[in-house]
Amino acid sequence: MLIRSPRGWEMPQRLATPEAVYWNRRRFLQALGLTSLSVLGVGCDSPAESRPADELGALRGLPEPSPTTDLYPAPRTERYTLDRPLTRERVAATYNNFYEFSPRKEHVARLVSNFRTRPWQIEVAGLVKKPQTLDIDELVRRMPLEERLYRLRCVEAWSMAVPWTGFPISAFIDLVEPLSSAKFMRMLTFNNADQAPGMRDTSYPWPYFEGLSLAEATNELSLFVTGIYGHELTKQHGAPIRLVVPWKYGYKSIKSIVRIEFTDQQPGTFWSSLIPWEYDFTANVDPTVPHPRWSQAYERVIGTEERRPTLPYNGYAEFVAGLYRA
Ligand code: MTE
Repeated sequence: MLIRSPRGWEMPQRLATPEAVYWNRRRFLQALGLTSLSVLGVGCDSPAESRPADELGALRGLPEPSPTTDLYPAPRTERYTLDRPLTRERVAATYNNFYEFSPRKEHVARLVSNFRTRPWQIEVAGLVKKPQTLDIDELVRRMPLEERLYRLRCVEAWSMAVPWTGFPISAFIDLVEPLSSAKFMRMLTFNNADQAPGMRDTSYPWPYFEGLSLAEATNELSLFVTGIYGHELTKQHGAPIRLVVPWKYGYKSIKSIVRIEFTDQQPGTFWSSLIPWEYDFTANVDPTVPHPRWSQAYERVIGTEERRPTLPYNGYAEFVAGLYRA
C-alpha cells in the first residue's frame, strides 16, 4: 500500500469532492480493508484553457505512435448532442478512475507512463462463430470510426462531457458473429502489475471485469472507444480500447480491454463482486435511487463545479428506456 506525505502544491481530496461523499467513501473503503492510504492528494487545477493541452500535461498519457494514428480525428456524428459545454481536455485527463494505476484520480495520468498499449491483442471467445485474436490496429481499420459527444456520469456523483471516437459495438458483433445462444458479453481488462502499480494491491479481484446484455451491447449508443478529443485514446482514459455506455454509471465503461467473451449467463462484475449491495450489474443512471451512502439526485460537473440535476438514464432515455420496459 502507498503511504506518503502531502507536498505543498497538493490539496486534500475532501476539497475537491463533496465532503460527505469523500469521508464516507474513505471510511467505507477502510472498513473493507481496501486502503490504508494516509493522505489522498489532488494536483492543483488552475483554469488555463487558453494554453495548449499538451503543454499542460493532458496528453502525457498518449500511447506510443501506432499504425492507426492517421484515423483521428474521425467525422463527428451530430445526432448525439450535449446540454452543456465539453469538459476541458486537461480536466478530463487529470481526474480519472483507473484503479489499476491508483485509487487517487489525480495521480492516474502520472502513473500510466510505463503502461504499454502496443502491441495489443483482443481475444474473442465463448459462444461465438469466429473465436479469434484480433490485433487492435487491424480491428480499428476495419471498423467505422466516428466521433460522438457524450456525457459520462460517475456513480460518485460527478460528471463530464467528452468527445469520444470509436465504433458501434453492433459493428464489432457483425464481425465476430456470436451464436444465437449468446445473451451476454463479458469484458476483461489487462492484468500486469509490473506496468500498473495499483494492481499490487491484492485486496481487489484483478483483472477488472464487466458485462452487458447483448441487447444493451447492440443498442446504438454502445461504443468501443479508441480515441478522445480528436486523437488516439490516452492511457489514463483506457487506451487502446474501452467501452462507453453513457446511460450507465461510469464503472460499467471498462478500460483497456484484452478479452471479450460471449456467454448465456449474466457475468459477474468487478465492483459487484466486491460490494454487491452498492454496485449492481445493470447500473443505469437513476436520480431517484440513492447510492446507499449518498444521493444520486444531483451531480457535480468537473471543471466548472456546477451542480446539475441528474437525468434518468443520464439523459439518454429516448434511446434506451425501451430496453428495460417489462
Ligand atoms: N476500467 C478499469 N479497467 N478500471 C477502473 O478502475 N473505472 C471505471 C471506468 N472504467 C475503471 C474502469 C470508473 S469508476 C469510471 S467513472 C470510468 O472508468 C472513468 O473513466 P475516465 O477516467 O475516462 O473518466
